[in-house]
Amino acid sequence: MRRRDMLKRLLQAGGAAVAAVLAIPALVLSLAPLRGQQRSIWRAVGSLEAFPIGGVQKAAVPLPHPDWAKTIIDQGVFVWRPTSTELVVYSRSCTDLGCPLTWDPGGEVFLCPCHGGIFAKDGARMAGPPKQPMHRYLTRIREGLIEIDLRSIPPEA
Ligand code: FES
Repeated sequence: MRRRDMLKRLLQAGGAAVAAVLAIPALVLSLAPLRGQQRSIWRAVGSLEAFPIGGVQKAAVPLPHPDWAKTIIDQGVFVWRPTSTELVVYSRSCTDLGCPLTWDPGGEVFLCPCHGGIFAKDGARMAGPPKQPMHRYLTRIREGLIEIDLRSIPPEA
């Protein structure tokens, strides 16, 4: 083998090694979202006994703000217990542009103050611009507490 060919092969091998080392961080970053989606984040909403059967009640789940250090925000939710064995926890954010919904106990509907969106008690869209029903959290009961999985609805909800 000529000296020039040997040098060429050494440079090619070195280039491939550098490319492989540089690709590792990109590979790790590209897999990070997949890992994150699989892990649930459970937070307590309150005691099951605090929410009467048949009613819809507002509650707040304190969360660290994702952008501002040492700041706690309240994630607004609605809790509905249709029967003694059923439980629904909705995000308070409208599925149109995220405005906070209010519960109208007289009409038994959720109202959006921004563009007139209306949702039924079961979260179904009734009127206005929203295209989707209300977001429902995955729920569980642990030691008498209602817990929701924060990752079970889209992050912007
Ligand atoms: S944000 Fe609720 S209807 Fe537009």
